[in-house]
Amino acid sequence: MDNQKNRKAMDRRSFLRSTAAVGAGLVLAPQSFGQATASGTDDINVALLGSGAQGQVLLNACLKIPGVRFKAVCDIWTAYNQKRASRLLKKYRHEHNTYVDYQEMLDKEKDLDAVLIATPDFRHAEHTVACLKAGLHVYCEKEMSNTREEARKMVQAAKETGKLLQIGHQRRSNPRYIHCYEKLIKEAKILGRITTVNGQWNRAARPPLGSPKKYAIDQATLEKYGFKSMHQFRNWRWYKGLGGGPIVDLGSHQIDIYNWFLEASPKSVMASGGTDYYDKATHQWYDNVMAVYEYEASQQIVRAFYQTITTNSSQGYFETFMGNQGTLVISESAARGAVYREPSAPEWDKWVKAGILNEPAKPAEEEKPDTGAVLDVRETLAPPAYELAVKMDKLYHQPHLENFFDAIRGKAKLNCPADVGYETAVTVLKVNEAVEAACRLDFKPKEFKV
Ligand SMILES: NC(=O)c1ccc[n+]([C@@H]2O[C@H](COP(=O)([O-])OP(=O)(O)OC[C@H]3O[C@@H](n4cnc5c(N)ncnc54)[C@H](O)[C@@H]3O)[C@@H](O)[C@H]2O)c1
Repeated sequence: MDNQKNRKAMDRRSFLRSTAAVGAGLVLAPQSFGQATASGTDDINVALLGSGAQGQVLLNACLKIPGVRFKAVCDIWTAYNQKRASRLLKKYRHEHNTYVDYQEMLDKEKDLDAVLIATPDFRHAEHTVACLKAGLHVYCEKEMSNTREEARKMVQAAKETGKLLQIGHQRRSNPRYIHCYEKLIKEAKILGRITTVNGQWNRAARPPLGSPKKYAIDQATLEKYGFKSMHQFRNWRWYKGLGGGPIVDLGSHQIDIYNWFLEASPKSVMASGGTDYYDKATHQWYDNVMAVYEYEASQQIVRAFYQTITTNSSQGYFETFMGNQGTLVISESAARGAVYREPSAPEWDKWVKAGILNEPAKPAEEEKPDTGAVLDVRETLAPPAYELAVKMDKLYHQPHLENFFDAIRGKAKLNCPADVGYETAVTVLKVNEAVEAACRLDFKPKEFKV
């Protein structure tokens, strides 16, 4: 209760600050109002809820961001993940408490500003709604939820509480992606009319995640938190009711970019997939999925293909936007990102001069096959690759976290607020339904709104 009083006082301070900002002419969107921090300074007190693989990634990125203080770590796997995160925080001298139960953390931690949530997808709604209602800002990992209904509750809670909710589609804050959207597509319209999109995330076959016996969680605790066994606890992604399978786990990152760059939500989707390689008992979700969306962007039809397979890593992960004047290939992986001009497109020198593209790497010397025949092979040579003029020199998740903290300070607008995350959740969750239905499913425009 004390905690709530404390936060109510903070909310009054937030209101006064917001009003002052409006008075000073600094009018920002609701998601960006500076909301007073517990310390009364730009320092932000944070708790990590879920310190598994991704929780650690967020932790490491936050440790590079000035003004972020960890006050608490909550994780049910005390013997391993909680301990590992806590050890790291001690090393960096963040004085913090550890918890198993998030409610206890919310009751006891009086001076938190925000919570980073990296628990399994099926817990996101419960955890996010509770933290928002406790007066805290939330950064919740993707996928927003494994069901539309739960994702909807998260959007509603953000609206009702007025607290910030950033969904962890970190490419939305990646300077390379922002450059592609703002400069290449919007400003220079370098691709011409985008007609087709193609993307994939292919992963090599891999054994299930295990854990040494000495770190095992007892059966009663596992069941209390929704897991039937240690195997299921470690491999929750593959289980219906806990995760959403690879299309949700991997595909959501990239299909989110389709929606963003096309400035549209799809009209329909058809998909094929199945558990064809792994044992269905341990891989309830499809181990491969191929989906075709139909978008209507700027009153033009765009078809967008996406595939994720988990038995072969060929070509890794990327998104390709194809227009009648050029092709953009972009990936979170820094190794991939270039634009290719169609032979009939106007020269791109002006975009190089404008700093939007880098000079293309010199095309390889033509090597004519020594067949003795007169053969013009130029048509089949790969076009020159114009490199993106922007680099990303931070950890992948760092800019998205920085955006979240800056929004708390009133210095930025969230790059992936709840309603945007919701649109993406609706877009990807339908793919699993389309596989099941084995037919084309239409989206109703109102499905994307809460
Ligand atoms: N943005 C990205 O690039 C990215 C990458 C990987 C994972 N993720 C997302 O991060 C989330 C976590 O994924 P992960 O790979 O770290 O999974 P994980 O299984 O490694 O970690 C989950 C952690 O949550 C803890 N946990 C489970 N239930 C809990 C509860 N009720 N209360 C407190 N702690 C609980 C577990 O003990 C574990 O430590 C998922 O939503 C996933 O989709 C995002």
